Amino acid sequence: MSFATETQALLYTPAVAQATAALRARLRGVVPELEWAVHAPYVEAIQRLKAARRAVILAHNYQTPEIFHGVADITGDSLALAREAARSTADVIVMCGVHFMAETAKLLNPDKTVLIPDLQAGCSLADSITGADVRLLRQRYPGVPVVTYVNTSAEVKAESDICCTSGNAVEVVEALGVPRVIFLPDEYLGRYVAGRTQVEVILWKGHCEVHERFTAEDIALFRKQWPGAQVLAHPECSPEVLAAADYVGSTAGMTAHVERTRPARVVMVTECSMSDNLAALFRDVEFVRPCALCPHMKRITLPGILRALQTLEHQVEVPAHVAGRARRALERMLAVQPAQHSLPSQPSPAARLPEGERRPS
Ligand code: 13P
Ligand code: SF4
Repeated sequence: MSFATETQALLYTPAVAQATAALRARLRGVVPELEWAVHAPYVEAIQRLKAARRAVILAHNYQTPEIFHGVADITGDSLALAREAARSTADVIVMCGVHFMAETAKLLNPDKTVLIPDLQAGCSLADSITGADVRLLRQRYPGVPVVTYVNTSAEVKAESDICCTSGNAVEVVEALGVPRVIFLPDEYLGRYVAGRTQVEVILWKGHCEVHERFTAEDIALFRKQWPGAQVLAHPECSPEVLAAADYVGSTAGMTAHVERTRPARVVMVTECSMSDNLAALFRDVEFVRPCALCPHMKRITLPGILRALQTLEHQVEVPAHVAGRARRALERMLAVQPAQHSLPSQPSPAARLPEGERRPS
């Protein structure tokens, strides 16, 4: 088969309609009928090209339903994607997520081709800190281990002792067996962790531009407008939002919670595509959808994925002097036991944010 860029428009032919009929039925009510004629030819073309390239498509929970349900082989939170990237036997990995996720996949698969469909798919947390910042913190707190959220560049990971995700942050901090850690870069996730451990947590003032927008007043409004709704929040939200939620967890934790408890009505205080993706899976649950879009996640589209498979661009590379140390921090994380996904929400009093811990902008 030819990998050449297809110049003719992709059409919704009867053959495409037939090949994608089961998926269309699964996404009924989630992807508007009118849009399906646009998505379906891409879904069909990507599926064909993916097999020819011996490629695997990994998609984060925040990807749109036509990607998440339509073309991904593996879906999940950052932790699941990191674990699956480490196990992959494919020749090519296409990361439908943001740049740090693709870098993580490359670090764990140095000999494979790792593609990201859009190089501009960044992250406000990853942009909040540099390797030089971490070196300064180490000088200020000699001997204190550095725990770094995976939402960071490889350069920052390389300066860290161990990585964590929102799904295993408490376990990672406790696994170190030390009285205090430096936790980077998400202040709110760090505060959340500090509330669940005796370990003292030194924080950095990085925030997710999507989750920091939610307020406790929003939660009160959701409860008033949608009586009886369970409120599930991601730990990148502020402590006030987490204290007002019924459940706090990573995107995988929220999914597991919905699957386990089957609430009649639920509000997911996180990126909006997550609700769309779960709505297709749990038809008996009503998902209230306050929309908070991650503009970086939304840079990944079906045409972009097809182009990446056709051209094998954009290839993600990590310089050798960074890769070895960054990989070690990731592998240490992967050696820690998986999370339990059942943590109740509580305020987090033990976190410490010393003056001047934020990088000047
Ligand atoms: P998860 O680790 O829960 O998938 O979250 C990643 C992320 O980017 C949240 O904004
Ligand atoms: Fe980064 Fe927030 Fe987007 Fe997640 S939702 S990728 S933390 S900006």
